[in-house]
Amino acid sequence: MVPLHTACLLLSLAPLLVLGVPPIWTQPEQVHLSYPGAPGSMAVTWTTFNETESKVEYGLLGGRLFEMIAKGGATLFVDSGKEKRKMYIHRVTLTDLKPAATYVYHCGSDEGWSEVFSFTALNDSTSFSPRFALYGDMGNENPQSLARLQKETQLGMYDAILHIGDFAYDMHEDNARIGDEFMRQIQSIAAYVPYMTCPGNHESTYNFSNYRNRFTMPGQTESLWYSWNLGSAHIISLSTEVYFYLDFGQELIFKQYEWLMKDLEEANKPENRAVRPWILTMGHRPMYCSDDDQDDCTQFDSYVRLGRSDTEPPAPGLEDLFYRYGVDVELWAHEHTYERLWPVYGDKVYNGSKEQPYVNPKAPVHIITGSAGCREKTDRFNPNPKEWSAFRSMDYGYTRMQVVNATHLYLEQVSDDQYGKVIDSIWVEKEKHGFSAWF
Ligand SMILES: *[C@@H]1O[C@H](CO)[C@@H](O)[C@H](O)[C@H]1NC(C)=O
Ligand SMILES: *[C@@H]1O[C@H](CO)[C@@H](O)[C@H](O)[C@H]1NC(C)=O
Ligand SMILES: *[C@@H]1O[C@H](CO)[C@@H](O)[C@H](O)[C@H]1NC(C)=O
Ligand SMILES: *[C@@H]1O[C@H](CO)[C@@H](O)[C@H](O)[C@H]1NC(C)=O
Ligand SMILES: *[C@@H]1O[C@H](CO)[C@@H](O)[C@H](O)[C@H]1NC(C)=O
Ligand SMILES: [Fe+2]
Repeated sequence: MVPLHTACLLLSLAPLLVLGVPPIWTQPEQVHLSYPGAPGSMAVTWTTFNETESKVEYGLLGGRLFEMIAKGGATLFVDSGKEKRKMYIHRVTLTDLKPAATYVYHCGSDEGWSEVFSFTALNDSTSFSPRFALYGDMGNENPQSLARLQKETQLGMYDAILHIGDFAYDMHEDNARIGDEFMRQIQSIAAYVPYMTCPGNHESTYNFSNYRNRFTMPGQTESLWYSWNLGSAHIISLSTEVYFYLDFGQELIFKQYEWLMKDLEEANKPENRAVRPWILTMGHRPMYCSDDDQDDCTQFDSYVRLGRSDTEPPAPGLEDLFYRYGVDVELWAHEHTYERLWPVYGDKVYNGSKEQPYVNPKAPVHIITGSAGCREKTDRFNPNPKEWSAFRSMDYGYTRMQVVNATHLYLEQVSDDQYGKVIDSIWVEKEKHGFSAWF
């Protein structure tokens, strides 16, 4: 029999023996790319849980491996959950990349390097025809379309991915471990092509802090709104959430609106619109939709479309702004369905012609694509859509888009339920862009 005092000593040591020393987390993970907007650049973002340096070693495919090095920095992100988990978000921007050249890279520091990844620097020619995959509302649980997107990205089918809000469901949950795991899940896409984002309602907890801290979009707005160019397109990403979370700052509606106006003004300067005739927008919550939930877009006077009159001063909506500046295509998500609209403005259809509605359309074209897959499953449609509703699908899936040239843009919808079948497609054709194209 062990003497009592020895037993007590052993017992009091037990927690120490069981817990041991916590692991050291210097190994890079959650690697993802984004395009900072300047031709020849690419941003690499990743996470470590202990503090390390932030370096990317890279080189041209077929050249000497890791011949070049770029350094950046890390920011400490403390999640606001109970555990106040800490992580370091590392950011390094590569510059002077050769357009359309493929690079091999890894990231990390002398305390640990990531796997080897590769990417192709974006072709900065305005006659380049970029191919996108785009979707919203993809979660950590039930991310139906993810495997197909991973494979297609690996097959080289996309130059960039647009994730139109609502990530992970939700990034802050389980003390932001859901966010970590989601970022690991998308690494097999996002470490290879730029992964461009906008915030959705599922990011709102703690004032969007997981979203603002984990992504690295162009501009100085913590990834909330920004624009960039690719091929003949000018792409604007915005936060529809400023219209819904007034507690985080009503002024954000006006700040964003001012910025949008300036950006659209600049993009519409004749010399700019001549080389980048397509203006595309992406934002999470649509202005229109015909789902049977009670979401903003199911209301005739949706906030995103018409603004809010219960703020002081009243907050302007986006429909008129986008119409006035001749936005060509508006990409949305939030509804867990796919819906394509006939060209629409002010709740009315403005087809190019009855036979060819998308040839010289007389109003912007809206696509709602929020069915990538998440724990909330898909939504349902109301049985009596308005006349602007052209095509609807409740299948899980995502959209492909190619901005082919100054006059032609192609969109198609992939059903994951139907094993990758293309269930809808359109060509938008425009001889003229801008406000005057509507008449
Ligand atoms: C590593 O990170 C953990 C978790 O934040 C922390 O408890 C530990 O002190 C850190 N270790 C070092 C060596 O910095
Ligand atoms: C970029 O794309 C244009 C248009 O397709 C093409 O002519 C050009 O060769 C590409 N640039 C490079 C460096 O491949
Ligand atoms: C929420 O975050 C935005 C963006 O950083 C900031 O402008 C705003 O002041 C924040 N709101 C609050 C209530 O902290
Ligand atoms: C728009 O075009 C589509 C396709 O031809 C047609 O079904 C629809 O009725 C048209 N709408 C209007 C208002 O002309
Ligand atoms: C633009 O692309 C379309 C579709 O591929 C093609 O028919 C058209 O000729 C192209 N226009 C120019 C100017 O190359
Ligand atoms: Fe949403």
